[in-house]
Amino acid sequence: MIVLSLKNLVKSFGGLAAVAGVSFDVERGEIVGLIGPNGAGKTTVFNLVTGTIPADNGNIFFGGRDIDRLRPHQIVKLGLARTFQTIRLFPGMSVLENVLSGCHCRMFAGVISSFLRLPSQRREERSSLAKAMEELEFVGLAGMWRQTAGGLAYGDQRRLEIARAIATEPRMIILDEPAGGMNEQETLELRGLIAAIQARDITVMLIEHDINFVMRVCNRLIVMENGALIAQGTPEDIRRDPRVIEAYLGADD
Ligand SMILES: Nc1ncnc2c1ncn2[C@@H]1O[C@H](COP(=O)(O)OP(=O)(O)OP(=O)(O)O)[C@@H](O)[C@H]1O
Ligand SMILES: [Mg+2]
Repeated sequence: MIVLSLKNLVKSFGGLAAVAGVSFDVERGEIVGLIGPNGAGKTTVFNLVTGTIPADNGNIFFGGRDIDRLRPHQIVKLGLARTFQTIRLFPGMSVLENVLSGCHCRMFAGVISSFLRLPSQRREERSSLAKAMEELEFVGLAGMWRQTAGGLAYGDQRRLEIARAIATEPRMIILDEPAGGMNEQETLELRGLIAAIQARDITVMLIEHDINFVMRVCNRLIVMENGALIAQGTPEDIRRDPRVIEAYLGADD
């Protein structure tokens, strides 16, 4: 079953075609890596998919539904969550409050019942707290719930962003350089976390420069260069693809 489908997506900035007609599908349950050199257009693809910026042309289908005119919060509600290449937490708020901000997109009690503090609202508040603590447990940060998010080590901030995204109860999560700034041990733990996310039936797509990491973590890779998709396949296929070696892997050696 296809969860996410991009059809001929185009986005230019001034004269620069950051995404120049990209099409691909993501199947339910996959862990897909989106790779390519700096400036290839990877983050722009994620920004288009999550409604952060509008496309110039093309279509995006999520769960069979055309989402390319929707606002970011509407897309989150449909079950597509993300993290950012440049961490975007509420740095002055606690770790727990940051995760609660994700839970709140699933709360039904409206502004009025919240203002009146009706029992239905108090129940939701309690279950949100329990849920937020569960997700902190899931990413391994439960012991830090009181701490200020901005004071956490870099790798912990990345995991906190994942907890907040998962708290929105997504069907799919997209991670922009989740291992960025992580040490070897943290990167190893991140591999386990991504496998655990997949085990919860959440489809994963991620951007990552650490080629050993993507080769180990991903079931399938999609390679971009200069705004275009140049290859897709299993990690083994991609490792052997001459065009990929020339465009990307070769550059690292
Ligand atoms: N908001 C913007 N305004 C103008 N140009 C932009 C904007 N966002 C991206 N670009 C340009 O579009 C191209 C693709 O950028 P993008 O961030 O998508 O690349 P990337 O593959 O994520 O690169 P990296 O691996 O360095 O994160 C780059 O040339 C970039 O400078
Ligand atoms: Mg990027």
